[in-house]
Amino acid sequence: MSDYKTNRNFMKSDFAESVHDISDQANKVPYPPLQKPLPEGEVVLIDLPEPNADLMHKPGFHRLLLERQSRRKFTKESLSLDELSYLLWSTQGVIVKLGQGYASRRPVPSGGARHAFETYLVINRVEDLEPGIYRYLPFSHRLYFQELAQNLPALLTEANLGQKFVGNAAAVFAWSCIPYRAEWRYMGHSHKNLLLDAGHVCQNLYLAVEALGLGTCAIGAYDQAAMDAMLELDGEDEYVIYLAPVGKV
Ligand SMILES: Cc1cc2nc3c(=O)[nH]c(=O)nc-3n(C[C@H](O)[C@H](O)[C@H](O)COP(=O)(O)O)c2cc1C
Repeated sequence: MSDYKTNRNFMKSDFAESVHDISDQANKVPYPPLQKPLPEGEVVLIDLPEPNADLMHKPGFHRLLLERQSRRKFTKESLSLDELSYLLWSTQGVIVKLGQGYASRRPVPSGGARHAFETYLVINRVEDLEPGIYRYLPFSHRLYFQELAQNLPALLTEANLGQKFVGNAAAVFAWSCIPYRAEWRYMGHSHKNLLLDAGHVCQNLYLAVEALGLGTCAIGAYDQAAMDAMLELDGEDEYVIYLAPVGKV
């Protein structure tokens, strides 16, 4: 293991260990302002025009932004393989290899183009795929079938701290991080970027899902050890950092 244990640990979910912690919200402390207050006295304020969808060369984008939301109610329908393929490509697909292959350009930005994530899929219902655990191979746009799995909805629900809509989704994206892929270049500076990078990946999933008429919801509250064990990750050199169930809505 590298020297960066503290930073790596900071990237993991500690929800399972801190279920009994009491937040200020639970203690009925008034909520903090949702926008930084203005300085006292006279201030200069500039009215902005309303967001104008007519500016768009591709107006569908405005609708995507307006309609994007976290969706937690999915039907029992399966996803098609075409839909899954598009979602994988839009989040982690490789557009081009850079240099001799030291990095890659993808539909999401990533600090130093390190793209230090792997995409696992826990699949309940996708046409032409057995329920089980898969890993996306972005350089050849293929799936590696890791294992058949029994009882996935119950296991997934438990590993996501009782969030049943995760367990019952047609497919669950689980992004792991291999921190050395970034540390190789950015050493101890990597970990902040890795968390930012993950946000970009999930945001692309939200937008692609919305464009396909499907639904998703970012998941940060999960049991780190249980998710790592389910995907057979060692929890040190590779660990889950973010999840997103996908289904028809
Ligand atoms: C980092 C992150 C973690 C989240 N974790 C969860 C989660 O564990 N469970 C859940 O139901 N929603 C989760 N959400 C979804 C948020 O609750 C949701 O984005 C927020 O309520 C705003 O709603 P919207 O996405 O529909 O705009 C998470 C979102 C983010 C960005």
